[in-house]
Amino acid sequence: MYFVHPQINLNKKKFQKIFSSFFRTPDSESLNKKLFSFFPEKQIVFTDMGRSAFQIIIEKMNLRNSQMLFPAYICDIFLPIFKKYNIKPIFLDADIKTFNLKIEELQKKITPQTKSIFVSHIYGLPNNINKILSIAKKHNLKVIEDCAHSFGIKKGKKYLGNFGDASLFSLYKFLPVARGGMLVCPKDWKIDLEETSFSPRDFISFLNHFPFWAFLFKKFGGSVSPKIIRKEKLSKIGGINKVSLNLFSCFFEEHQKNLKKRINLAMFFQKELKNLGFEIQERKENSFCYLSVLMPKKLRDKRDDFIKGLRKKGISCTRMWQNPIILNPEVQKRYKLDLNKFPKTIEISQRIINFPLQDAFQKKDIKEMIEKTKKVLNPLDRKV
Ligand SMILES: Cc1ncc(COP(=O)(O)O)c(C=O)c1O
Repeated sequence: MYFVHPQINLNKKKFQKIFSSFFRTPDSESLNKKLFSFFPEKQIVFTDMGRSAFQIIIEKMNLRNSQMLFPAYICDIFLPIFKKYNIKPIFLDADIKTFNLKIEELQKKITPQTKSIFVSHIYGLPNNINKILSIAKKHNLKVIEDCAHSFGIKKGKKYLGNFGDASLFSLYKFLPVARGGMLVCPKDWKIDLEETSFSPRDFISFLNHFPFWAFLFKKFGGSVSPKIIRKEKLSKIGGINKVSLNLFSCFFEEHQKNLKKRINLAMFFQKELKNLGFEIQERKENSFCYLSVLMPKKLRDKRDDFIKGLRKKGISCTRMWQNPIILNPEVQKRYKLDLNKFPKTIEISQRIINFPLQDAFQKKDIKEMIEKTKKVLNPLDRKV
């Protein structure tokens, strides 16, 4: 079965590395040396999760009780953080071709209370960060880069995460590490985090990185586990646990080495999907955290049937995000949103499909997924 979230293809060498990750003390010095080339002028702090890094940024930048320009097309895990710090998000619609925030809307929405812009390079698709930086400079706004889906991608000469005043990463989105985040920030920020422990729940998340367990969880886990995990993930700010940090050390270089191959496979996959009528994001510098496409327009209402059909054939696609933050009823009420102002975000949420893309994939895997896609798509197409 093919899955979207990072999977481990186990061999003897990997097994030994993974096994020792549960017992070793992390070699933070050597890891920091390796990461230095990615963020030479910044400080790197490993956090419990990406959202912990975001909260540290808010505190250090003194953004409590302010307005933050924020993408409308993103998940709603940010709501509790807005409430905690009394931040009012000013949502910006998405660009349907790139899923980036609509830069044209930025200037119009700035008010005297606006102190920052949150820029999310979702799915590995970089925003036009230089343009955003010049607007921010003009209005004296802080820029927070959300690289949850974008590790190791260069824009010009620098890696993403170096452009803003600070940035956050979510390690388990692109590596099989169960849990973990990373804060990239100015060197003079003093941060002292209490280390967290690798909980039984983290162990279950870790098992989910193995196809056999992922299959069982998908089949029998039902709707219970996401709810439990969601609740638990809102706990307080902390440092990364040792096991996840060891796993990150094990996997990140290999991921980086495979990036070129991954991008080539993704582009082949995109081309084939485009021929079938899916809309793709034709952007250079995409690191393809997921292979995200839009359902063909005329089959927009059939997206969920299509996903169910593919699942029966062993391809587990996701719809991230079929419910972006602006569709959360509490968000709508709290910030008095007029959904008519976000037509593209809503269209993307109705058409989005994330196909599996793993570092270990070969061309034959993509060809197999394309053949299965045709088999599921054609009958739906005939019904329209
Ligand atoms: C785009 C984006 N940014 C940030 C986060 C937060 O990352 P984490 O789950 O590690 O807290 C997420 C995760 O849901 C995300 O999808």
